Amino acid sequence: MQSREIREKFLKFFEERGHTKIPSASLIPEGDKSVLFTTAGMQPLVPYLMGNEHPQGKRLVNIQKCVRTQDIEEVGDNTHDTFFEMLGNWSLGDYFKEEAIKWSFELLTSKEEGFGLDPKRLYITVFEGDENAPRDEEAFEIWKKYMPENRIYFMGAKSNWWSMGEDGPCGPDTEMFYDVTGKLGDMTKEEYMVADERQEVVEVWNDVFMEYLKKGGKVVGKLSQKNVDTGAGLERLTMALQGKNNIFETDLFAPLMGVTSSRIAADHIRTSVFMIADGVTPSNTDRGYILRRLLRRAYVSDKNIDPIVDAVINHPSYQGLYTFAPNTKEIIHDELAKFEKALSAGLKQVEKGADPFTLFTSYGLPLEIIKEVVPNLDEEKFKEEMKKHQELSRQSSSQKFSN
Ligand code: SER
Repeated sequence: MQSREIREKFLKFFEERGHTKIPSASLIPEGDKSVLFTTAGMQPLVPYLMGNEHPQGKRLVNIQKCVRTQDIEEVGDNTHDTFFEMLGNWSLGDYFKEEAIKWSFELLTSKEEGFGLDPKRLYITVFEGDENAPRDEEAFEIWKKYMPENRIYFMGAKSNWWSMGEDGPCGPDTEMFYDVTGKLGDMTKEEYMVADERQEVVEVWNDVFMEYLKKGGKVVGKLSQKNVDTGAGLERLTMALQGKNNIFETDLFAPLMGVTSSRIAADHIRTSVFMIADGVTPSNTDRGYILRRLLRRAYVSDKNIDPIVDAVINHPSYQGLYTFAPNTKEIIHDELAKFEKALSAGLKQVEKGADPFTLFTSYGLPLEIIKEVVPNLDEEKFKEEMKKHQELSRQSSSQKFSN
């Protein structure tokens, strides 16, 4: 099943169950200063999850373009990417856990109406409870109608509580994982956690039961209505459906991987092209800086960028769905020409004795690239400095985004 068909099936399934299709919002959030990019399908829907009436009704479905860069160092493994499309359906104070779980299971496993995934390769997690909310026995009981009890694991807030940030709607979630090896069978919770760590199981869908409100990082009570917010990453779902163990072998990445051997370059250029389409240009601050870093990291992984840009722009899965900026290549060329100059200057400085860590702070190069360009790099020292740097940027970004 190709990615186009997966999108269509998802939308059709929920439209047939009373959901109205809404368009993907821009990657640049409208009127929300707390985040740089749209990171989830629910983000543009926050006012409606809080109780405002949505003009399209109480049941919505869409495919949302998202950018998440907090896992950027993970890109290159089997499942992480910085841009992805999120398939989502919402109940704004309408149906709740019973229908949400039923439909998730049906869509994933039904051969007629859904994706026909093997239920014997599914695993479920539900919230184990804490001071904010009780153990989600309700979700557990519902799941038992579809799944054997030993494949449903109770997990803590770290994995099974979802919120977008310090303020806003939030709640416990139930997540669905798929065995991409086809060999795992029954697993204890401990075995399941090891399989998750090894990326042998992959999260294909998340149903959040949003009935709580967070303020200043604390859960302060319940919302005026009970909502459902679901999210399925198209790339990961496609990987499960195409029988691959990594996203780079799916049809979403295949044309890109046909012109580069670097997963980092493929991922970062795809994200960059989508950012540029929504009006971001490289700069030294905020969104522009993230774009700049992505382009630089892509470039040091593979200097032959143009074919990757073409592969994104002409991608059969994006035709008729997304439009790209006509000056995409120009923007990228200008940026990389400047970088090429700066990089050779930086390397000269390092040759003359400057601390190689400046290649990270001033040029945004990741460790694995710096290791390549700086022979005999003291990795321990580098990692120490990285820790200090991350601590500092955490502090300054929490100051920045807190008001
Ligand atoms: N907001 C949840 C997530 O991002 C479900 O859509 O996973």
